[in-house]
Amino acid sequence: MNKIFKDGFLWGGAVAAHQLEGGYQEGGKGLSIADLMTLGDKDHPRELTDTIEKGKYYPNHKAIDFYHHYPEDIALMAEMGFKAFRTSIAWTRIFPNGDETRPNEEGLKFYDNLFDECLKYGIEPVVTLSHFEMPYHLVTEYGGWSNRKLIDLFARFATVCFERYHDKVKYWMTFNEINNQTNYDSDGSVYENSGIKFKDSDDREQMMYQAAHYELVASAQAVQIGHAIDPSLQIGCMLAVCPIYPLTSKPEDILFANRAMDTRLYFGDVHINGEYPNWLTAYFKNKNYNLDITDNDLTILKNGTVDYVAFSYYMSFAVQYPGHMNYRESTDLVKNPYVEASDWGWQIDPVGLRYAMNWMTTRWHKPLFIVENGLGAYDKMTKEHEIHDDYRIEYMRNHIEQMKKAVDEDGVDLMGYLPWGCIDLVSASTGEMKKRYGFIYVDEDDYGNGSMQRYRKDSFYWYKKVIASNGEDL
Ligand code: BG6
Repeated sequence: MNKIFKDGFLWGGAVAAHQLEGGYQEGGKGLSIADLMTLGDKDHPRELTDTIEKGKYYPNHKAIDFYHHYPEDIALMAEMGFKAFRTSIAWTRIFPNGDETRPNEEGLKFYDNLFDECLKYGIEPVVTLSHFEMPYHLVTEYGGWSNRKLIDLFARFATVCFERYHDKVKYWMTFNEINNQTNYDSDGSVYENSGIKFKDSDDREQMMYQAAHYELVASAQAVQIGHAIDPSLQIGCMLAVCPIYPLTSKPEDILFANRAMDTRLYFGDVHINGEYPNWLTAYFKNKNYNLDITDNDLTILKNGTVDYVAFSYYMSFAVQYPGHMNYRESTDLVKNPYVEASDWGWQIDPVGLRYAMNWMTTRWHKPLFIVENGLGAYDKMTKEHEIHDDYRIEYMRNHIEQMKKAVDEDGVDLMGYLPWGCIDLVSASTGEMKKRYGFIYVDEDDYGNGSMQRYRKDSFYWYKKVIASNGEDL
C-alpha cells in the first residue's frame, strides 16, 4: 500500500448545489443568480437575465435532478470508495431571499438527509457555503456584494449552517473561487462571485476590489463564528489556482508574471495572513481607490484566518510584459507553446499543479486541499452504455503523479483530492451538459432531454482502483 498519502487522505469528488440539484422551486427554495443564467457555449457567454424569459433555456433549473436522485448518486460514489464528497449548500434553500430572519426548515432538512446519506457510507461531507449561487433578491435589492450589508446576511446564513450541521460536517469552505473576479471584464465571473451587474459607467476594477473586500471580511467573520460554535471545525478558503508563467526569461516578463500571480492570489494572502499585502495597498493608493475598509474590518481579517487552503486546479496561464504592471486578465494572457489545451481551450499542464502546490506551501505554510481538478470533455456512450473516457483517465493520472511528487519529494501537506464533477453536471461557465467531467455519466443533453439514467464510465472503475490502492495503482 502506498505510503505517500497520509492516513485518512480524503479521496473523493466535488460538485456544487446549483450545478446538479435542480428542484429550483422545490422545498421552499428561492431564486438564485444561477437560476437566471441561460445556456451558452464556448463561443457564446451565458446570458444573465433579470427575469426568467420565455423561449430561453436555464439549465440549472433541472440540472441532473440530484435533488431527487441523491441516494442513488451517493451510493455510486460509495461504490467508488469515496472518503469525501464536496458539495455546497444552496443559500436560497436556507434563506430563499437571503435577508429573512428565520431559515427555511425544509431546506435545512434536505441537507440533513443528504449529509446523513453520505455518513451512512463513511463519506465525509466537505461543504462550501457560497458557490456561485447567492439569492437573486440580494442582487436586485442590495446590489450584491457591492453592499456592506451582505456581510451580516452572510454571517446569519453561516451561523445557521454551522449550528445545524457541525456534528455532521467537519470540513467547510467559505467562498468558492473567490478570485475568479480578478477578471473583472468578465460579466459572468463577477456576477457568479459577487452578484454584480455592471453599468457602462462603472469602474469595474475598483468595484471588484470593494466587493471582494466585503467577502473577505464576511469569510473571516464566518471562520470566527464557526470556530466559536465548534472549535473542531476546519474552515478553509477556496481559490482558483492557475499558476501564471512568464512567456520568456526577459526580466520584465518575470516581474510581470509575479505581479499577475500576486494579483490573482492576493485573496489567499488576506484569507491566510489576515492582511493585505504591501504591493496591493500601494496599488490602491496609486490608483486613488478610496475603498471602504475600516479598522474594524482589518481586525476581523486578522482574527478570522483560515485553517487550510482549498483550491481548484485545471490549467496554467502565461503572460508577457505589456509595458506596465497592472495585470488585466482579459487582455494579458498569451498562449503557452509548451502545453496543450482542452476542447474548451483550457491549457492542460500537470506540472503546473506541482508548481502551484510548492508556491502555496512556501508562501502560506498551510495544509492544502485539492477540491477541484479534471477534464471537461465530450463523451460518447456506446450502444452497450459504455463510455470509454481514456482521455480523462490520462489527464487525472498525469495530475495525480505530480501530486504524489509534490507530497513525496517536496514535502507538501495535502489533505485530499476531490476531482470536479464526479458525476456529470451543468457547466458553470457555459451551462452545457456536454462539457462533462464525471466518472458517472448522466444521460441528458444540453436542453435537459434524456433518460437521466446514470452509467459508470471507464474512469469510474479506474478511480475506484486508485482509491483502493491509495494512489498507488494509476
Ligand atoms: C470551477 C467552479 O470554476 O470550475 C465550478 O468552481 C466549475 O463551479 C468548474 O464547474 C469547471 O468549470 P466549467 O465551466 O467547465 O463548469
